Amino acid sequence: MENFTYFNPTRIHFGKGQIKALATELPQAARVLLLAGGGSIRTNGVLQQVQRALGARVAVEFFGVEANPDFDTLMKAVEIVRREKLDWVLAVGGGSVADGAKFVAAAAPFSGDPWEILTSRGSVVKSALPLGVVLTLPGTGSEANIAAVISRRAIREKLAFLNPLVFPKFSILDPETTFTLPERQIANGVADAFTHVIEQYMTFPVHAAIQDRFAESVMQVLVEEGPKSVRNPKDYDSRANVVWAATWALNGVIGSGVPQDWASHTIGHELTALHGIDHARTLAVVVPSLLSVQRATKAAKLLQYGERVWGIREGSEASRIDAAIERTRSFYESLGLRTRLRDYDVKPGVAAEIAGKLKARGEVNFGERGDITPEVVERILTLAA
Ligand code: NZQ
Ligand code: ZN
Repeated sequence: MENFTYFNPTRIHFGKGQIKALATELPQAARVLLLAGGGSIRTNGVLQQVQRALGARVAVEFFGVEANPDFDTLMKAVEIVRREKLDWVLAVGGGSVADGAKFVAAAAPFSGDPWEILTSRGSVVKSALPLGVVLTLPGTGSEANIAAVISRRAIREKLAFLNPLVFPKFSILDPETTFTLPERQIANGVADAFTHVIEQYMTFPVHAAIQDRFAESVMQVLVEEGPKSVRNPKDYDSRANVVWAATWALNGVIGSGVPQDWASHTIGHELTALHGIDHARTLAVVVPSLLSVQRATKAAKLLQYGERVWGIREGSEASRIDAAIERTRSFYESLGLRTRLRDYDVKPGVAAEIAGKLKARGEVNFGERGDITPEVVERILTLAA
């Protein structure tokens, strides 16, 4: 296992009725930007609970953060923060709103061109406003990590940035606030969380037993509870386990000291930038195909995963690897996520287009071994047709 420093300062308030914790988490004198999406929180009672907990604090509401939050929209929120001298950002919504809040928190005090926050992957961020999250959609893990993914539709880009300064100070996870999610969104959340584990686990073994066993547990919980939670959206216990699993999938624990891949995400973000496909659905398309193309270098982990997560013990190594990849594909499908580009009306020509875009950006060696070149990306997407 490689050396690592593990640090996660986000306080989590988990469970029914926890939105009231806002009253103690936010300083009485805080001047709050309340960031929200298209309006789901108005109709499901979440906004009302938040407003009650905020009490007499100054709070300016900004609605309209899109799924795949857009740079130009968020810059309007940055303007408001600067003009009204707001000093806290509160995200109330899904991963897109949480990510948007991280960007606003970093961009408001930033003196240069804020797009640089993305093009530098977060390295130019030297300060950020404090932020908190009320999460209404489990999946991204944004509630307890340092990442944010921002789209800029005007130039068809979607880039991530990471910086410890945007760790949420606190996050509130009340599974009941997720009961109003459409089936498509909760299925997306389960698939996204599962893929976060794959990205940090399906590499090569480094004798990191805690990380491996934790990762396998998170996957097992998602396999057991995910489809159940999609079918029974009001089953509190099942949903609560999905919510907590999604946080653990990307709060830094299972990724500490181990090699990580993230190629499926890099490729998936390009599919969203070009075709607007839901984030999780891009992963459902890319992962099975990427695992097939990279099966030789990932063989040891594919075998371990097959055995420990899916109980695959019989047969030759090659057939066990085939079975592990097939089970992964059918897991996405069982959630209702289609796993072929043609299911999303995307032509195979996209393979060359995305490979070209990555090459132009200089992203030519990614994956845990730096061996995913634009040519490999093209093979992965061609296989996914
Ligand atoms: O906008 P509203 O009206 O709130 O509706 C949202 C949105 O339409 C709706 N929704 C959310 N909570 C709801 C609800 N509808 C009913 N009831 C509720 N309780 O769901 C829709 C999708 O929301 P969104 O926030 O876009 O989904 P998700 O949480 O899947 O976030 C996706 C974004 O996160 C990024 C993705 O790239 C994508 O931009 N990611 C962020 C990561 C991170 N920060 O670590 C890692 C991930 O890999 C991912 O890349
Ligand atoms: Zn993801």
